[in-house]
This record gives sequence, C-alpha cells and structure tokens, in this order.
Amino acid sequence: MKNRIINQLKKNMGNFVSGEALSQELGVTRAAIWKYIKEIKEDGYPLEASPRKGYRLLSIPDILNEAEIGEGLQTNIIGKDIRYFKDIDSTNKYAKQIALEGCPNGTVVVAECQTEGRGRLGRYWSSAASKGIWLSVVLRPEVLPSDVQVITLAAAVAVVEAIKTATGIGTGIKWPNDIVLQGKKVCGILSEISAEVDRINFLVLGIGINVNQNCDDFEESLRDKATSLKIFARENGIRPVNADGEGSYLRSVIVKEMLRNLERMYNDINAGNTEEIINAWRKYSVTLGREVKVSYRNREYTGTALDITNDGKLLVKCSDGEMLELQSGEVSVRGIMGYV
Ligand code: BTN
Repeated sequence: MKNRIINQLKKNMGNFVSGEALSQELGVTRAAIWKYIKEIKEDGYPLEASPRKGYRLLSIPDILNEAEIGEGLQTNIIGKDIRYFKDIDSTNKYAKQIALEGCPNGTVVVAECQTEGRGRLGRYWSSAASKGIWLSVVLRPEVLPSDVQVITLAAAVAVVEAIKTATGIGTGIKWPNDIVLQGKKVCGILSEISAEVDRINFLVLGIGINVNQNCDDFEESLRDKATSLKIFARENGIRPVNADGEGSYLRSVIVKEMLRNLERMYNDINAGNTEEIINAWRKYSVTLGREVKVSYRNREYTGTALDITNDGKLLVKCSDGEMLELQSGEVSVRGIMGYV
C-alpha cells in the first residue's frame, strides 16, 4: 500500500493530492492514508502537507527502497523480490541466509548503510551511509559450478554498462571484476557460492558501487586507491546527468540499469550463450595487454596478461616464459590501484 501511495504522489509530482482522493483511489481509510504518509515522510520523501489541499511530493529522493528500484524495473526474475534495509551488517551475509531459507531466484537485498561490509579475501568494504550502492543478488543459475566465473564477469560488464548509460562515465574492468576509474576502484564485486560437485545451490553476487562519496567519506588509507562517480565528475568537469544540483547521482537509475543488464546476461548464460559477455568483458578490460603482478599458490609472478578463456580464466605469460591460467588469485595491474 505504501508503495502505491508513493506512486500516486510521484504521478502528481509538484501538485497536491488530497487525502480523500488517495483513500478513494486506493480503497483504504483516510486514517490509514495518514499513517502511511507519516511513514513515507520518515523514509525521507520531501512531502508538503496542507490541511485543505492534501499532500505534495516536492522531489524524488535518492533512496534505494522497493518503490524507487521496483518502479519501471522491467525485469522478470531479478528484483521481483526486493529486501530493503536502512542499516544492515552486510547485504551478502543476509542474502546467503535467505538463500538458504529458500528465497526466490533473483531476490535483491539492498541497504543504505552496512556496518560490516565485506570485500574479497576477507577484507573490509567501506560502505558510507546512502552514498553508494550496497546490494546483493541471489541467483540460482542452471550451470555447472565450473561455469560460475562467467557470471561474475557478467556482473562486472553489467555495472560498467549501467554506469555508462546512467551517467555517461566510461569505466574499465580489472580482472576479474573490479571496476576502475582513472586507476582507482569505483566498484567491487564479491561472489559467494553454495554448490555441490555438479550443481549450484545458489550464488550471491554482492556489488558495491561508490557513487556519491566525497574524498573525506573514504578512510584516509583508501583515498589513493578508491574513488566515486561524483568525485570523478567533479575532478573532470563533467556536468552530471541523473543527478541533483549538488552533483549527487540518483542511485536508483544506476541500480535499475544494472539489474536489467544482469538479467539479460544471466538468461544468456543459462542458455549457454557466453561469447558476447566474454567479448564485452575484453572490450572493457584494463588488464589485458598490461604488465601484471600475480599472487598464486603462495608464489609471486610478474608477466603480461594475454587474454581470458571462454570460461573466464586469465591467461598470463610470466617473465620467465611460464604460462599461468588463473581461476582466482590476486592480480595487480601496473598503473592501477597503487601498483606502480
Ligand atoms: C571487493 O573486495 O572488491 C568486493 C567488494 C564487495 C562489496 C559489496 S557491498 C554489497 C555486498 N555486501 C557486502 O558485504 N559486500 C558486498
């Protein structure tokens, strides 16, 4: 009901809608409308209330709740079920829990703030309140566990293309799925899987995108490695689109684009069509053809990243001539995120 009231207010943006009209249209009492309006205000929607004229929505707020993400999403699987939190420890942690309890394929968990955001290799992920996109998608793909890497590469492609469409900003992918901007990280993806030898039970794709942080929203130790879309736009004199007067991007626009892209690629992967995804990944890659440093099975290598295989492994030609085919591991690319 709350979402239906929000939608009515949005349809009449800038104009008053009376409590009477809302109650008739939606078939609930005036008292119920009043209760929901109070909640909607508390959720952060800028509403003006007039005893005679009713309620007026002044602008669309930058919130990632179901009303904002679900409206006009145009997907069939991903985001049909959206679980929104103002605060959570980690969206990945919660997503894994509900996946075990049997939540639908494509369920999205999203939070304004994470108190224990988690990154790859057990690292911490900085998740400033309402400044970024902190979101996890539960998927139940019909592929073998050995094919899961392509889904994580697809997630990176989905983010790059969503950022481009929503903001006009072109980003690159550092293998396997860090998204970078001018050598700094703007998005990280943490994929966690529950599987048997020949079957995936579920995959949680945890996506963190730095959108509206200012420099001082990042801990000092991160400032030379991390950036946000807003910082990039400001530093490069880009006039932000889909943003407010302060240059803060409307995060829901990026989220919707990303979920749509992800669903398209997810369907392709289930149908066995991965070539286009791998080619798109190659196109956005900032790893291929570059000098890399690799930590693999407790050894350090340097070499050149040559290509990725059809199932997403990175091929590295080491300086001593040895060839590596990496499924996982830590890869630093010269010139990116502090590797000089
Ligand atoms: C990385 O180390 O690059 C991966 C970062 C992934 C962060 C996201 S934010 C949403 C989701 N919940 C988490 O706790 N982590 C992921």
